[in-house]
Amino acid sequence: MLDTPIGVPEPDVPVALPRPTRGEIAFERVGFAYRRAAGRVVLPEFDLRVPAGQTVALVGATGAGKSTLAKLAARYYDPTAGAVRLDGVDLRDVADADLRRAMVMVTQEAFLFSGSVADNIAMGRPGASREEVVAAADLVGARAFVDALPEGFDTDVRKRGGRLSAGQRQLVSLARVVLADPAVVLLDEATSSLDIPSERAVQAALETVLAERTALIIAHRLSTVLIADRVLVMADGRVVQDGSPAELLAAGGEFAALHAAWRDALS
Ligand SMILES: Nc1ncnc2c1ncn2[C@@H]1O[C@H](COP(=O)(O)OP(=O)(O)O)[C@@H](O)[C@H]1O
Ligand SMILES: [Mg+2]
Repeated sequence: MLDTPIGVPEPDVPVALPRPTRGEIAFERVGFAYRRAAGRVVLPEFDLRVPAGQTVALVGATGAGKSTLAKLAARYYDPTAGAVRLDGVDLRDVADADLRRAMVMVTQEAFLFSGSVADNIAMGRPGASREEVVAAADLVGARAFVDALPEGFDTDVRKRGGRLSAGQRQLVSLARVVLADPAVVLLDEATSSLDIPSERAVQAALETVLAERTALIIAHRLSTVLIADRVLVMADGRVVQDGSPAELLAAGGEFAALHAAWRDALS
């Protein structure tokens, strides 16, 4: 329900994703323009290969095209040119249900609903048992705070998770991902800054959730960028830098400037 894209057609003859899905993403000569934007090209033609298991941080100014790239990877839209493939299969050929099993998109702030903590986690895999929900919470380090709530896992989070702190909401959404167990995670990180203990808890949870999965993270926090294997710096719809955080720091370009700005903001 959270992740159902609208406006992309289901294939008449679907091609099954390999099982298990490894999670290799390839953009092949992909170009993209939003239809509503009168054909203005948002992403000029590009190639990009993300090997299975890699954690990629997308950084860059607002409007650079980070969300658009992530949405193409999750088939919220089809490219205007070229193809996006998962394990070699064109996303246009993948049945919707198959794609949603393989990939989960998380927007960290938005998606808690009124209902219990357990309900919110179980959304990752409808029909999950209480034991599975608790195990997922445990894995991301959410167990202690949930147990301390008045009714534990049965505590109502209130409208949009209003009862929980920003960090706690993020842990709940990460527990949901653990339960869904997708090969690929796309994460649009919340911009809100967290206090230092929460930041550490979320970072540790992220490392757990992202291990063994392919991840594209629209990163707004330095701590997240530093756990990535690879950073793509975007500007005006193009990838202008591509390398490990250490390589890009040493290169002294856009990423190094961004890094310095983030670091200054922390101190
Ligand atoms: N739904 C949309 N319709 C038309 N234009 C859009 C839409 N979403 C984003 N854009 C435009 O596409 C460009 C890239 O946006 P986006 O991918 O959201 O960038 P970022 O995530 O890096 O801030 C911007 O110029 C933005 O205005
Ligand atoms: Mg965005």
